Amino acid sequence: MLGVAEQQECGMTVSEALSAVEADLRQIGSESPRVAAEWVLADVLGIRRLELAMHGDAACTEAQAVRLKELRSRLRTYEPIQYVLGETEFMGLSIRCDARALIPRPETERLVDLALHDALWERSEAVRVIDVGTGSGCVALTVAHLRKQADVLAIDVSEQALELARENAIRLQLAERVRFCQNDLLENLLPDSVDLVIANLPYIDRGTCAVLPPDVRLHEPLSALDGGEQGLDLIGKLIQQGQQVLSPGGALYLEIGADQGGCVREGLHAHGYQQIEIFPDWAGRDRVAKGVKP
Ligand SMILES: C[S@@+](CC[C@H](N)C(=O)[O-])C[C@H]1O[C@@H](n2cnc3c(N)ncnc32)[C@H](O)[C@@H]1O
Repeated sequence: MLGVAEQQECGMTVSEALSAVEADLRQIGSESPRVAAEWVLADVLGIRRLELAMHGDAACTEAQAVRLKELRSRLRTYEPIQYVLGETEFMGLSIRCDARALIPRPETERLVDLALHDALWERSEAVRVIDVGTGSGCVALTVAHLRKQADVLAIDVSEQALELARENAIRLQLAERVRFCQNDLLENLLPDSVDLVIANLPYIDRGTCAVLPPDVRLHEPLSALDGGEQGLDLIGKLIQQGQQVLSPGGALYLEIGADQGGCVREGLHAHGYQQIEIFPDWAGRDRVAKGVKP
């Protein structure tokens, strides 16, 4: 038996449902309510987003109405659409995501792209890579997918995040290529044992964490965002540890906040890294820092 709300949704055509979801999303301040609404309806109908136009006049079935109601009520609580739909795309890979880990962001694609084009891939037949703070596994899995000579270890302190990352590895048929380990950064790893460290660690300062937009603040894990008082607690520690764990000539790539380029450059310099570079994103903001162990 359908409830009143589902009956409403059941009588709707697809284009009416689309407008209703768009209005919900506009109400909660979504940046692109129309596109997001299209993703929701495509999921409900089990079709591709581009096919929606062909179904505008069709009435939602009872099962679709039930699903639509569930998704709409989750979206109204500011739950991010990636969690509601259960997946997102990262560098062409479909990554399952839920509240166990941060949603992969486009900024991180820049981090991975830079690390994938480091000169060391041309120098070595086998490259030992560690993804520190793997979350959903998006970085480690992309590296394993795109670089066959990579031997990848993915580390996170969160057992829940690692569980999700392992699920993603299985889904993407990369479970044989990536090892997962619960660890505090690079603690207890052998000296000179890694060629490439890639890390998107929490780097938001404590004050900013308190005023993040509601979708992030209410739904994404704070432990994936909070980088301490100035945002640099974990990055600072990793810079220090990297100096021990990296092999000579090995590189460290870090995603950083837009205002952290200067501090991170100083930190890398103080710990003896060379070839230090700070890379901007497409909008010109500092986004990635690199240093090489001499
Ligand atoms: C910003 S998220 C990045 C997740 C994923 N790599 C991505 O780019 O979407 C940071 C991750 O670092 C993990 N983390 C926080 N402190 C850590 C620590 N001390 N050692 C290892 N991982 C840590 C968090 O659990 C979280 O999954």
